Amino acid sequence: MKEYSLPDTRAYEKKKALNINDAGRPLFHLSPMAGWMNDPNGFSFYDGQYHMFYQYYPFDNVWGPMHWGHAVSDDLIRWNYMPCALAPDSDIDYKGCFSGSAITDKDGRHLLIYTGVVEDQADTKSPKRWLQSQCIAVGDGRDYIKPYDKPVIDGSKLPEGFDRHEFRDPKIFYEGEGYGVVTVAQNQDGYGAVLRFDSADGIEWSFTEEMLACNGNYGRMWECPDYFRVDDKDVLLLSPLDDDGSSQVLQAGNQVIAFVGNYNKGESFREESVQVIDYGMDFYATQTLSAPDGRRIMTAWMASWDAKLVQREDQAWCNQLTIPRELSIREGVIYQKPVREIEKYYGVGKCTGAIIREGQKKSLDGIKGRIFDMTVILDLAGGEPNKFRINVCADNCYRTAITYDSIEKYVEVDRSHAGYRRGYAHIRRAGIVERGDKLELRILVDRFSVEVFVNGGRYAITTTIPTPESCDGITFESFGGSSKIDIIMHELRL
Ligand code: FRU
Repeated sequence: MKEYSLPDTRAYEKKKALNINDAGRPLFHLSPMAGWMNDPNGFSFYDGQYHMFYQYYPFDNVWGPMHWGHAVSDDLIRWNYMPCALAPDSDIDYKGCFSGSAITDKDGRHLLIYTGVVEDQADTKSPKRWLQSQCIAVGDGRDYIKPYDKPVIDGSKLPEGFDRHEFRDPKIFYEGEGYGVVTVAQNQDGYGAVLRFDSADGIEWSFTEEMLACNGNYGRMWECPDYFRVDDKDVLLLSPLDDDGSSQVLQAGNQVIAFVGNYNKGESFREESVQVIDYGMDFYATQTLSAPDGRRIMTAWMASWDAKLVQREDQAWCNQLTIPRELSIREGVIYQKPVREIEKYYGVGKCTGAIIREGQKKSLDGIKGRIFDMTVILDLAGGEPNKFRINVCADNCYRTAITYDSIEKYVEVDRSHAGYRRGYAHIRRAGIVERGDKLELRILVDRFSVEVFVNGGRYAITTTIPTPESCDGITFESFGGSSKIDIIMHELRL
């Protein structure tokens, strides 16, 4: 039944990590110590440091029985690996320690709440299924124990009609004197809903209410809920699985959506607006923390269940998380920008201006690289209808093209020529509402990823790329008119 043990996993990590060639790793994005990574988990500030856990299968570069990997950081940019925190090694989680969250409990311990998966079979003729319940581990920031031999929230606490086999991803928070948790579960129609549970001590939990239901509007099952308040608004972040695009909000597949509105316990969530958090191919399963200085900071898995199929096959590690992003709300809309700590790592900087003539493809002196933070400001005042394009990670064969279309009003990221060999969707667009007479594109590149933030983080588009690292060119193009731009470019060094 139990195939894994934490000591064995930790021993394996030590041995394996030594042999991994780190050459292709991102510099300032967290990737797994060894093997496979998906969702960020337990993102928290504990005992003077940021902690990031992640869904982890250390033994291969594909998904397998989930462990929790662990890393710590002083500044959210430079991460240090810690030994594996949780293995699927007990009677309550032997098929996997699925996603969850962390908090400093009332006794000062680091409390992890996660989904324990076990096997379940109605009778000998029925297929085996995975039963999902919420479980607890506590620790000191390095070593964690599972103090209870039972889940703290199992399917018996679900309201009528919800499926115990699709019940997961607890996000814990404090409210008043007690703890609250939001989870997702699937109802009898096959759709996800956000369920809230409350507890005075973190051990005895009771069902409080259904906060929000999918009703077929956004995807089918929902995953990875997060609930928090920022700039006087309540936010529910969710990862809808398998959206068919019919809502006109999400694009087909798996993305992250935010409901912004108001919420009081006992009254369900009153949604005022719905927003796609990132339009890119590689962005899923967000999680946030509240930093000691009050910032709400979000990270996500920089892949998704469809996009994961296009990984590089030769790596001893697979996948990475996005840059942590500071969230704010302006006029009811969520903005996100890379944490300001990244500026500590700015190396050589360059400011320059240029006019790109119609039909021209231009490179600019000193503007190139594969690890950088670059802001390009396009002057819209001239009013010539045009398309403006930045090609990054480019040479004569490869490129990732970031295009702004001033007629149709969108920003597009196209990785069709970035080196992928599979024919999945490679183009994603964010329709944009312009503000003022400038368009700002901030582009973060860290070897094999491109994160684009439009107009101060009003829109984001994230993608990974397998482009050979030697392709470090950046070119600018203009169609239908000329484009006037200003550029601020920083190399990043750790
Ligand atoms: C989201 C997810 C979660 C689950 C975990 C399993 O990507 O499917 O719902 O807990 O991954 O690894």
